[in-house]
Amino acid sequence: MSASPLNILGIAGSLRRSSYNHAALVAAQDLLPSGVSLEIFDLKGIPLFNQDTEHQPAAQVTEFKKKIREADAILISTPEYNYSIPGVLKNAIDCASRPFGDSAWAGKPVAVMGASVGLFGTARAQYLLRQSFVSLDMYPVNIPEVMIGLADKAFDADGKLIDEKAKKLIRQLMLSLTTWTRQLKK
Ligand code: FNR
Repeated sequence: MSASPLNILGIAGSLRRSSYNHAALVAAQDLLPSGVSLEIFDLKGIPLFNQDTEHQPAAQVTEFKKKIREADAILISTPEYNYSIPGVLKNAIDCASRPFGDSAWAGKPVAVMGASVGLFGTARAQYLLRQSFVSLDMYPVNIPEVMIGLADKAFDADGKLIDEKAKKLIRQLMLSLTTWTRQLKK
Protein backbone atom coordinates (compact mmCIF):
# COMPACT_ATOMS: atom_id res chain seq x y z
CA MET A 1 0.00 0.00 0.00
CA SER A 2 1.45 3.43 -0.92
CA ALA A 3 1.78 6.11 1.79
CA SER A 4 -0.67 9.04 1.82
CA PRO A 5 0.46 12.21 0.00
CA LEU A 6 2.07 14.99 2.05
CA ASN A 7 2.23 18.72 1.40
CA ILE A 8 5.17 20.75 2.70
CA LEU A 9 5.05 24.54 2.95
CA GLY A 10 8.41 26.12 2.08
CA ILE A 11 9.36 29.53 3.47
CA ALA A 12 12.46 31.51 2.48
CA GLY A 13 13.61 34.17 4.94
CA SER A 14 14.55 36.57 2.15
CA LEU A 15 12.63 38.94 -0.10
CA ARG A 16 15.57 39.30 -2.52
CA ARG A 17 14.64 38.63 -6.16
CA SER A 18 17.62 36.31 -6.71
CA SER A 19 17.61 34.87 -3.19
CA TYR A 20 19.77 31.78 -2.74
CA ASN A 21 17.39 30.61 -0.02
CA HIS A 22 14.41 30.83 -2.35
CA ALA A 23 16.51 29.02 -4.96
CA ALA A 24 17.29 26.29 -2.39
CA LEU A 25 13.54 25.74 -1.91
CA VAL A 26 13.09 25.51 -5.68
CA ALA A 27 15.90 22.93 -5.74
CA ALA A 28 14.15 20.99 -2.97
CA GLN A 29 11.03 20.72 -5.15
CA ASP A 30 13.04 18.41 -7.41
CA LEU A 31 14.45 16.37 -4.54
CA LEU A 32 11.26 15.16 -2.86
CA PRO A 33 10.26 11.58 -2.14
CA SER A 34 7.36 10.39 -4.32
CA GLY A 35 3.92 11.50 -3.18
CA VAL A 36 5.30 14.64 -1.50
CA SER A 37 4.75 18.19 -2.79
CA LEU A 38 6.38 21.45 -1.76
CA GLU A 39 4.58 24.78 -2.12
CA ILE A 40 6.62 27.97 -1.60
CA PHE A 41 5.04 30.87 0.31
CA ASP A 42 6.41 34.37 -0.41
CA LEU A 43 6.76 36.51 2.71
CA LYS A 44 6.49 39.72 0.66
CA GLY A 45 3.53 41.72 1.98
CA ILE A 46 3.60 40.41 5.54
CA PRO A 47 3.45 43.66 7.57
CA LEU A 48 5.55 44.43 10.61
CA PHE A 49 3.98 42.87 13.67
CA ASN A 50 2.20 45.23 16.04
CA GLN A 51 0.55 43.70 19.09
CA ASP A 52 -2.00 46.53 19.13
CA THR A 53 -3.58 45.12 15.96
CA GLU A 54 -2.95 41.39 16.39
CA HIS A 55 -6.71 40.71 16.60
CA GLN A 56 -7.24 42.41 13.21
CA PRO A 57 -4.50 40.75 11.13
CA ALA A 58 -3.69 41.83 7.57
CA ALA A 59 -5.10 39.59 4.82
CA GLN A 60 -1.57 38.32 4.05
CA VAL A 61 -1.14 37.15 7.65
CA THR A 62 -4.50 35.35 7.60
CA GLU A 63 -3.52 33.67 4.31
CA PHE A 64 -0.09 32.75 5.71
CA LYS A 65 -1.64 31.14 8.81
CA LYS A 66 -4.12 29.23 6.61
CA LYS A 67 -1.28 27.87 4.44
CA ILE A 68 0.69 26.82 7.54
CA ARG A 69 -2.35 25.05 9.01
CA GLU A 70 -3.11 23.26 5.75
CA ALA A 71 0.48 22.03 5.38
CA ASP A 72 1.57 18.67 6.79
CA ALA A 73 5.07 20.03 7.46
CA ILE A 74 7.15 23.20 7.17
CA LEU A 75 10.53 23.73 5.48
CA ILE A 76 12.35 26.97 6.31
CA SER A 77 15.35 28.12 4.30
CA THR A 78 16.96 30.95 6.21
CA PRO A 79 19.66 33.44 5.32
CA GLU A 80 21.98 34.65 8.08
CA TYR A 81 22.03 38.39 8.81
CA ASN A 82 24.67 39.59 11.26
CA TYR A 83 25.00 36.11 12.77
CA SER A 84 21.24 35.89 13.34
CA ILE A 85 17.82 35.30 11.77
CA PRO A 86 16.73 37.95 9.23
CA GLY A 87 14.05 40.28 10.58
CA VAL A 88 11.77 39.37 7.66
CA LEU A 89 11.66 35.74 8.78
CA LYS A 90 11.40 36.42 12.51
CA ASN A 91 8.62 38.93 11.89
CA ALA A 92 6.66 36.41 9.80
CA ILE A 93 7.13 33.73 12.47
CA ASP A 94 5.89 36.12 15.14
CA CYS A 95 2.87 37.22 13.06
CA ALA A 96 1.73 33.61 12.54
CA SER A 97 2.21 32.81 16.24
CA ARG A 98 -0.34 35.33 17.47
CA PRO A 99 -2.78 36.14 19.04
CA PHE A 100 -1.89 34.02 22.05
CA GLY A 101 -3.67 30.67 21.79
CA ASP A 102 -4.11 30.96 18.02
CA SER A 103 -0.63 30.14 16.75
CA ALA A 104 -0.56 28.41 13.38
CA TRP A 105 2.76 26.72 14.17
CA ALA A 106 1.90 24.54 17.16
CA GLY A 107 2.55 20.85 16.62
CA LYS A 108 3.98 21.24 13.11
CA PRO A 109 6.95 19.17 12.00
CA VAL A 110 9.66 21.45 10.59
CA ALA A 111 12.99 21.17 8.78
CA VAL A 112 15.60 23.90 8.43
CA MET A 113 18.22 24.67 5.82
CA GLY A 114 20.04 27.79 4.75
CA ALA A 115 22.37 29.33 2.22
CA SER A 116 24.82 32.19 2.70
CA VAL A 117 27.79 33.62 0.87
CA GLY A 118 29.80 33.14 4.07
CA LEU A 119 31.78 30.04 5.00
CA PHE A 120 29.41 28.72 7.66
CA GLY A 121 26.25 28.47 5.54
CA THR A 122 23.89 30.11 8.09
CA ALA A 123 24.87 27.79 10.98
CA ARG A 124 24.52 30.54 13.57
CA ALA A 125 21.12 31.68 12.28
CA GLN A 126 19.86 28.09 12.13
CA TYR A 127 20.66 27.38 15.79
CA LEU A 128 18.88 30.58 16.83
CA LEU A 129 15.90 29.63 14.68
CA ARG A 130 15.80 26.21 16.34
CA GLN A 131 15.56 27.95 19.72
CA SER A 132 12.27 29.52 18.64
CA PHE A 133 10.80 26.08 17.88
CA VAL A 134 10.65 25.44 21.63
CA SER A 135 8.40 28.45 22.22
CA LEU A 136 6.42 27.70 19.04
CA ASP A 137 5.92 24.03 20.05
CA MET A 138 7.19 22.80 16.68
CA TYR A 139 8.88 19.45 16.06
CA PRO A 140 12.18 19.91 14.22
CA VAL A 141 14.09 17.33 12.26
CA ASN A 142 17.59 17.25 13.76
CA ILE A 143 19.66 15.82 10.95
CA PRO A 144 20.91 16.24 8.32
CA GLU A 145 21.94 19.84 8.86
CA VAL A 146 21.93 21.62 5.51
CA MET A 147 24.25 24.62 5.60
CA ILE A 148 25.13 25.82 2.12
CA GLY A 149 28.18 28.08 2.40
CA LEU A 150 29.82 30.03 -0.42
CA ALA A 151 26.41 30.18 -2.08
CA ASP A 152 27.72 32.24 -4.98
CA LYS A 153 29.54 29.06 -6.08
CA ALA A 154 26.87 26.53 -5.04
CA PHE A 155 24.29 28.14 -7.38
CA ASP A 156 24.82 29.07 -11.02
CA ALA A 157 24.03 32.46 -12.58
CA ASP A 158 20.42 31.38 -13.16
CA GLY A 159 19.96 30.45 -9.49
CA LYS A 160 20.11 26.70 -10.10
CA LEU A 161 21.71 24.65 -7.33
CA ILE A 162 24.78 22.99 -8.87
CA ASP A 163 26.55 21.76 -5.72
CA GLU A 164 26.02 17.99 -5.70
CA LYS A 165 26.82 17.65 -1.98
CA ALA A 166 24.14 20.22 -1.13
CA LYS A 167 21.63 18.47 -3.39
CA LYS A 168 22.33 15.15 -1.66
CA LEU A 169 21.81 16.74 1.77
CA ILE A 170 18.55 18.40 0.74
CA ARG A 171 17.30 15.08 -0.64
CA GLN A 172 18.14 13.43 2.73
CA LEU A 173 16.48 16.27 4.64
CA MET A 174 13.28 15.89 2.62
CA LEU A 175 13.27 12.17 3.31
CA SER A 176 13.85 12.75 7.05
CA LEU A 177 11.07 15.37 7.19
CA THR A 178 8.68 13.05 5.37
CA THR A 179 9.44 10.09 7.64
CA TRP A 180 9.20 12.28 10.75
CA THR A 181 5.88 13.80 9.62
CA ARG A 182 4.37 10.36 8.99
CA GLN A 183 5.58 9.15 12.41
CA LEU A 184 3.95 12.12 14.14
CA LYS A 185 0.66 11.49 12.34
CA LYS A 186 0.41 7.92 13.70
C1 FNR B 1 24.51 39.36 5.25
N1 FNR B 1 25.23 38.24 4.87
C2 FNR B 1 25.76 37.40 5.82
N2 FNR B 1 26.27 36.15 5.52
C3 FNR B 1 26.71 35.31 6.48
O1 FNR B 1 27.16 34.21 6.17
N3 FNR B 1 26.69 35.69 7.80
C4 FNR B 1 26.19 36.89 8.20
O2 FNR B 1 26.17 37.18 9.39
C5 FNR B 1 25.73 37.79 7.19
N4 FNR B 1 25.20 39.02 7.54
C6 FNR B 1 24.51 39.75 6.62
C7 FNR B 1 23.78 40.87 7.02
C8 FNR B 1 23.00 41.55 6.11
C9 FNR B 1 22.17 42.72 6.60
C10 FNR B 1 22.98 41.16 4.75
C11 FNR B 1 22.11 41.90 3.75
C12 FNR B 1 23.73 40.09 4.33
C13 FNR B 1 25.34 37.87 3.45
C14 FNR B 1 24.26 36.89 3.05
O3 FNR B 1 24.79 35.58 3.19
C15 FNR B 1 23.86 37.11 1.56
O4 FNR B 1 23.36 38.42 1.39
C16 FNR B 1 22.84 36.08 1.10
O5 FNR B 1 22.75 36.19 -0.32
C17 FNR B 1 21.47 36.30 1.74
O6 FNR B 1 20.57 35.29 1.41
P1 FNR B 1 19.58 35.38 0.14
O7 FNR B 1 18.93 36.72 0.13
O8 FNR B 1 20.44 35.17 -1.09
O9 FNR B 1 18.60 34.26 0.32
